[in-house]
Amino acid sequence: MKIVVIGGTGLIGSKLISRLTDHGHVAVAASPNTGVNTITGEGLDDALAGADVVVDVSNSPSFADADVMAFFTTSTTNILAAEKSAGVGHHVALSVVGTSRVPESGYLRAKVAQEKLITDSGIPYSLVHATQFFEFARSIADTATDGATVRLTDSLVRPIAADDVATAMGRTAAGAPLNGTLDIAGPAEMGLDQFVRTALAAYGDPREVVTDRTAPYFGAIIAERALVPGGDALVFDTRLDDWLAAQTVTSA
Ligand SMILES: NC(=O)c1ccc[n+]([C@@H]2O[C@H](COP(=O)([O-])OP(=O)(O)OC[C@H]3O[C@@H](n4cnc5c(N)ncnc54)[C@H](OP(=O)(O)O)[C@@H]3O)[C@@H](O)[C@H]2O)c1
Repeated sequence: MKIVVIGGTGLIGSKLISRLTDHGHVAVAASPNTGVNTITGEGLDDALAGADVVVDVSNSPSFADADVMAFFTTSTTNILAAEKSAGVGHHVALSVVGTSRVPESGYLRAKVAQEKLITDSGIPYSLVHATQFFEFARSIADTATDGATVRLTDSLVRPIAADDVATAMGRTAAGAPLNGTLDIAGPAEMGLDQFVRTALAAYGDPREVVTDRTAPYFGAIIAERALVPGGDALVFDTRLDDWLAAQTVTSA
């Protein structure tokens, strides 16, 4: 199959391109770095010509509320229009577990808007909702840092390795459209504070993580279980400790 990966140069996208290629698909990375811009439309029709499946794992360059909403709505509208012209039979997109449970989050409101455009499009689709990536821990810390202190809630997360996310995206792209949502997660629930504390310790980052239930996460107060799967989820078994140990060996 020809599978176009929008955002195929990013963290998940580059791992996904390798997996799809290893499985014998023609996998095309489409992003500004490969001459495809889903905001301006540059290169999009050419990239989608003859495509069977389009996977969207792009992300907004800016997380400011208005920017992220403009990115996901403009980009998704342009991608879906190009898919209709090209006769693409399956749109797969990566979103976040709990999107609709945190309406105060501008980022998650934008992901809800992205999902609505997809479900209303009439194109067969699959939505994959992932929990926070292990790789995201330092970025979470950076947004919650004041001096040497990182202030985070102990509301629960169930973080997952980006490799496992890419595996789930590959299987979904190669399968029949779900016309629904698949939740994916890592093996263990833990507080957001504990997740970031564990990662920073492994990285030798001296910042102290202080537990604060009133601390916002990307601008929103998070209810205790808002970011963990509510029902059935596909659970991967890569453990945070094992993953961190492998990272620190690699980077030593
Ligand atoms: N971080 C998490 O914990 C988490 C959890 C659940 C779900 N997600 C979702 O996972 C998805 C992928 O995240 P990621 O961390 O893999 O992203 P990333 O590494 O930041 O990569 C973003 C990708 O988007 C591309 N892009 C940016 N602007 C574009 C444009 N105008 N047209 C086409 N492509 C464009 C970039 O292309 P260039 O390289 O060419 O700039 C890059 O390939 C996001 O949708 C996010 O919502 C993230």
